[in-house]
Amino acid sequence: MSFGTLDQLQESALAKLAAVTDAASLEAWRVEFIGAKGKVKAALGATKDIPKDDRPAYGQRVNALATTLQSAFDARQSELGATTQGKPQGPRIDMTEPGELLSEAVGRQHIITRVRNELCEVFGRMGFEVATGPELEDDEHNFVKLNIPAGHPAREPNDNFYIDDPTKVPQARMLRSQTSTVQARVMQARVKASKNPVGGLDSSIKIIAPGRVYRPDTVDATHSFMFHQIEGLYIDRQVSMADLKNTLLQFAHAYFGPEALIRLRPTFFPFTEPSAELDLRIRLREDQPLRWMELGGCGMVHPNVLKACGVDPEVWTGFAFGFGIERLAMGKYAVPDIRMLFENDLRFLRQL
Ligand code: DAH
Repeated sequence: MSFGTLDQLQESALAKLAAVTDAASLEAWRVEFIGAKGKVKAALGATKDIPKDDRPAYGQRVNALATTLQSAFDARQSELGATTQGKPQGPRIDMTEPGELLSEAVGRQHIITRVRNELCEVFGRMGFEVATGPELEDDEHNFVKLNIPAGHPAREPNDNFYIDDPTKVPQARMLRSQTSTVQARVMQARVKASKNPVGGLDSSIKIIAPGRVYRPDTVDATHSFMFHQIEGLYIDRQVSMADLKNTLLQFAHAYFGPEALIRLRPTFFPFTEPSAELDLRIRLREDQPLRWMELGGCGMVHPNVLKACGVDPEVWTGFAFGFGIERLAMGKYAVPDIRMLFENDLRFLRQL
């Protein structure tokens, strides 16, 4: 290889290197020129073909070529590294520009779901576990076990969504009209599962049961053919009306704040004795005064209900309560019409 050839080699190598734009072609260039089997190595190998006198000068020239190409390579590599790794690719982004508002487009839980979860959370802190039961029920759990015998006015076919012939007691299927059905189902299941039962049970029961209920009511501002209730049941030894009142007051404070009050008014339910109507005195909004609001029913579980589910009322006593979730949600969020909760108009739902 002549000196002239070495000059040409250097020139073409540098020109080629300047055209390299990515890591892969840079590596290909390295292999071609300064790699172990590259052209610089070949030029060095050709030293033996050079006339003896010229060899030192030739050797120096090849070494100079190797150094030049190596440092040109290093420089190009760091240049490319700086553009492909260090700096972001693509268009420049103004990090200070306000982002697009997503909250309008992102979905969230329906107000009823939120209130239901809040209730489960508050009662959960008081030791109540969540239980569920079927919405397609039978007469037995909706009525018979709850001390509502055949012929009772609550069984009127016009007041219930029967699926089967309503005279077929107790197997006729129906959409449940109350979550009290879950009381009966939970008690039966616990009696069945008790290992060392005393009076039917081997331990206390403390559950709440939120869920849908159905009644063929004419729809208006306060009625719907479907709504939600939450049921509570506490069975233990020597449970008293004082425990019921205390539990409801604790709930009212936890959910509506320390100024909330409760009031129990005597009434009648077939499945409790004594029975009471539950009122809450709450401030719906900061700019409003404290007001009484009727919420639901409660009482001491009737001995007939305990017996029907296999629990001995001489050993165990309990209280139960049930109230409407819509009523609570409407109270808490000042919603004037129950239909607004089910129309799913986003303009309304987004305000809650
Ligand atoms: N089930 C009743 C209703 O739908 C509400 C109720 C009243 C539930 C008293 C109870 C209770 O557990 O003890 O109107």
